[in-house]
Amino acid sequence: MRTQVAIIGAGPAGLLLGALLHRAGIAAVIVEQRSADYVLGRIRAGVLEQTTVDLLEQAGVGERVHAEGLRHDGTELAFGGGLHRIDFQALTGRHVMVYGQTEVTRDLMAARAQAGLPTWYEAEHVAIADYDGAHPLVSFTKDGVRHEIECDFIAGCDGFHGVCRASLPAGAITTYEKVYPFGWLGVLADVPPATEELVYANHPRGFALCSQRSRTRSRYYVQCASDDNAARWSDDAFWDELRRRLPDAVAERVVTGPSLEKSIAPLRSFVAEPMRFGRLFLAGDAAHIVPPTGAKGLNLAASDVGYLAQAMREHYGERSDAGIQAYSQRCLARIWKAERFSWWFTSLMHRFPDTGEFGARIQRAELDYLVGSTAASTALAENYVGLPLA
Ligand code: FAD
Ligand code: PHB
Repeated sequence: MRTQVAIIGAGPAGLLLGALLHRAGIAAVIVEQRSADYVLGRIRAGVLEQTTVDLLEQAGVGERVHAEGLRHDGTELAFGGGLHRIDFQALTGRHVMVYGQTEVTRDLMAARAQAGLPTWYEAEHVAIADYDGAHPLVSFTKDGVRHEIECDFIAGCDGFHGVCRASLPAGAITTYEKVYPFGWLGVLADVPPATEELVYANHPRGFALCSQRSRTRSRYYVQCASDDNAARWSDDAFWDELRRRLPDAVAERVVTGPSLEKSIAPLRSFVAEPMRFGRLFLAGDAAHIVPPTGAKGLNLAASDVGYLAQAMREHYGERSDAGIQAYSQRCLARIWKAERFSWWFTSLMHRFPDTGEFGARIQRAELDYLVGSTAASTALAENYVGLPLA
């Protein structure tokens, strides 16, 4: 096989890149190690920045996010038994869209299938070669048969545990990492959300988050121990713990029901620099991870491939490699802003092993300052809603 861009991974980064390239008349093949159903079954992010929605529109899949996504003009911070609203629209003129990663993936997969674009699911032994030479090559096995893809460029959209970053020689890359001493236990349930907007709660028992997927489907999280096991939590135990961490006015309105999904996500900050190695580009979780508190993971994956698609359009359309040269630097400028915000918001909202009484009072003082100061609320809102692509 021969293509222009070989994309490794059919998560949101790989699928969105494929759609953006197709719109630009650039050929791409996607190679994914899992089945399409497995990819669709992973319950992950839920909040899209306007920039991400714009990219979905550009990719030709904006219709359903506009029809079914829920526009949120603000969010609630809960602490000290009270609720404090951050008004994104008033403070920044921007908003976010609540629309699940599963739906983004579904829309992109459907558009790809409809356009008849090549995707190899359940590919085994995926490997990359000669990405720093003139003839990059992707190889894999499917149903026992080995395949090779010759290409101009390789896009490593294969997530944190993917093969692309792992294939680089140790000296080629610098990584920065912080692992948090807790995780998030998440539950998805077909019950109406307790509140109109998301609620981020700081509580002595630990962080809690009220999120949603639609008017009839809720997504809730509670901070848990890193080594906890989701199977140990009955639905009742989860609902009880969630309500204990919310202000009474919210807790009373939590509608409980059987969980559709229950899982624990570890919290990590991670950045790999640079993000381009000759003709190989890393994008999304393959290059960076943020703790989910700032809702940035999926949005960063989208902005990376927005820059990459632009670089490819310039390369093939305008015969300019300026975008390719600038890719890593452009992405990393945005990534470190999101890393800072996600780390800060995580630190403010969670109980750490060493938080103690002093740490808890400092968090409270900072939260009071945050909701009392227009400058501080604006900074939070600006970071949360995100910036247009520079
Ligand atoms: P991924 O979605 O990880 O996609 C990578 C794809 O590459 C996968 O389909 C994988 O199967 C495939 N792949 C891996 N290795 C290979 C290989 N060798 N060959 C071929 N294909 C391969 N963000 C939030 O904002 N809120 C959340 O609540 C949230 N929860 C999360 C929970 C978990 C458990 C995880 C892991 C992430 C969560 N995130 C969350 C982050 C967000 O979901 C990610 O940032 C987003 O999925 C990144 O998209 P991606 O396409 O870069 O990577
Ligand atoms: C989610 O709905 O899964 C979600 C929302 C906001 C976050 C993290 C996760 O900050």
